Amino acid sequence: ADPDPVQDFCVAAAPGDHNASYSTTYPGFPCKPTSSVVSDDFFFAAHASGASTDNPNGAGVTPGNVEAFPGLNTLGLSINRVDLAPGGVNPLHTHPRSAELVHVEAGEMLVGFVSTEGKFYSKVVRAGESFVIPRGMMHFQYNVGTGAARAMTVFNSQLPGVVLAAQSLFGAEPEIPDAVLAKSFQVDADTIKLLKSKFRKG
Ligand code: GLV
Ligand code: MN
Repeated sequence: ADPDPVQDFCVAAAPGDHNASYSTTYPGFPCKPTSSVVSDDFFFAAHASGASTDNPNGAGVTPGNVEAFPGLNTLGLSINRVDLAPGGVNPLHTHPRSAELVHVEAGEMLVGFVSTEGKFYSKVVRAGESFVIPRGMMHFQYNVGTGAARAMTVFNSQLPGVVLAAQSLFGAEPEIPDAVLAKSFQVDADTIKLLKSKFRKG
């Protein structure tokens, strides 16, 4: 989904070091000067362990996008690690800029998305198997096994973006008016207030 690279690489300069003298106007982040690029710029170790699943969703996502892994800048791809406790759900969300390939490494997950026609496509995916989420589709992963489950998710964007469904609707800052949400979901304002109480901070 990202534009094609126009040079071998463009390791992203450190945040706060987006110096105007750096070499590119290419979409993405400015490049570190090539003279200071080292092998470690192309290496990412943060997926050797997973994020905690000790939270209400029973899910931990460790991002491996360009912000975490600057060597990905301009390369049009990225990777996350998803850990799920038994019964855990990586909650409904979309990626506005990317398709997603879910490759399960351990356990078994129900992986699903909903198309623009409202059709739900899903599959129980086991270790060694993959499922693909087309760009922009609402999707989730749900651990339906008895043990921990783990997947690597691969994206054709260096920064797929994530819109968390419940968080963006019920946790928006400032809040979306109750009347808008109540009409949208065909429920009463008290139901909306209950949902907001779960997703709004403070
Ligand atoms: C999983 O859906 C992910 O976005 O990593
Ligand atoms: Mn996703």
